[in-house]
Amino acid sequence: MNNILITGGAGFIGSHVVRLFVNNYPKKKIINLDALTYAGNLESLKDIESKSNYTFVKADICDFDAIDAVFKEYKIDSVIHLAAESHVDRSIKDPLSFARTNVMGTLSLLQAAKTNWNNNLSDKLFYHISTDEVYGSLGDDGFFTEKTSYDPHSPYSASKASSDHFVRSFHDTYNLPIVISNCSNNYGSYQFPEKLIPLFINNICTNKELPVYGEGKNVRDWLFVEDHARAIDLIFHQGKVGETYNIGGFNEWKNIDLVKVLIKTVDKLLGNTEGTSEKLITFVKDRAGHDYRYAIDSTKLKDELGWEPSLQFEEGIEKTVKWYLSNQDWIKNVTSGDYLEYYKEMYENK
Ligand code: NAD
Ligand code: DAU
Repeated sequence: MNNILITGGAGFIGSHVVRLFVNNYPKKKIINLDALTYAGNLESLKDIESKSNYTFVKADICDFDAIDAVFKEYKIDSVIHLAAESHVDRSIKDPLSFARTNVMGTLSLLQAAKTNWNNNLSDKLFYHISTDEVYGSLGDDGFFTEKTSYDPHSPYSASKASSDHFVRSFHDTYNLPIVISNCSNNYGSYQFPEKLIPLFINNICTNKELPVYGEGKNVRDWLFVEDHARAIDLIFHQGKVGETYNIGGFNEWKNIDLVKVLIKTVDKLLGNTEGTSEKLITFVKDRAGHDYRYAIDSTKLKDELGWEPSLQFEEGIEKTVKWYLSNQDWIKNVTSGDYLEYYKEMYENK
């Protein structure tokens, strides 16, 4: 597989995947296709944009003709599909755009792969990046395994579940060589500050309230984004066609405890007295349909492909906070314009 189409490469996880592939595989061509929505930012790829094995194409995955033309022009033989609408809160306000991009967009890519690869399927791969949210919500015990039944609750997770089903259907119906991975919550550099960790780091730095939904008791399983990118590399090269792999850090945190770790880390790095920013914690109305707990069992990935997370959480969080503190220009750039409107509607008009 030499001509790799990565969709959503200007987004948070996609930018890490593009960087890793461009740097690690100089002989392969990496084509990053992204519509550059509010979540896509080419600033995140400045360090690799001039490499000779990298090409950027601005296109919408729902535009079949544009995708078809990219398959032909670049002789695409493999796809790593990350492009999506990815924020649960936005899906509650605007479910249709999630169905459009996540379901119809995935279908248009699958159709382009099927028609262009025709029956010549050796050394081809369609790798679909999905989420643990398709499995629904756990109680206090247990883990999601690859065999857990789908039970999505938000329009976001329902759209991702639907896209997973379409990907599997193309394997079962047309023998399209596919692989899927379902990952837990990622954190790290270049994440848009609408998601919990970058939002709260930014709010602590600008002395704004920290809006904790409900009582802050929901649990998420956090993974450093570069560990996710490494897992994607491994699954792309060594995963078994037709299989699903769960990716997670065995690293569960109750939201309120995580927020306290963030406050401690940011205060320390800003030179504030310990606990200074705790006064910013504000409990607000809960997210509608808020899943209680996610926890991934990634034993299959460890046993079959030898993947393990590389970082302890506190180390990863410190690295992440340092990155946001020293990349204020990136933050300023992505939080101008539309972001201000979004923030007002989401947190100030309640
Ligand atoms: P993101 O929102 O940061 O980035 C999404 C990217 O997709 C952006 O660059 C955006 O411009 C692009 N995009 C959106 N609509 C498009 C369209 N119609 N055509 C082309 N490009 C389009 O998302 P992320 O957090 O990096 O997530 C990437 C993928 O990983 C998603 O599929 C998501 O479901 C999945 N995932 C995310 C997490 C997480 O914690 N963030 C965890 C597990 C799985
Ligand atoms: O589990 C994987 C998923 O993780 C990905 O598929 C999604 O793309 C990604 O957005 C993420 O979804 P979450 O909804 O878990 O992430 P988010 O950062 O939005 O929220 C994390 C937790 O923090 C969740 O319980 C809601 C809570 N929260 C979030 C925000 C934005 C708050 O309490 N306050 C907030 O302002």
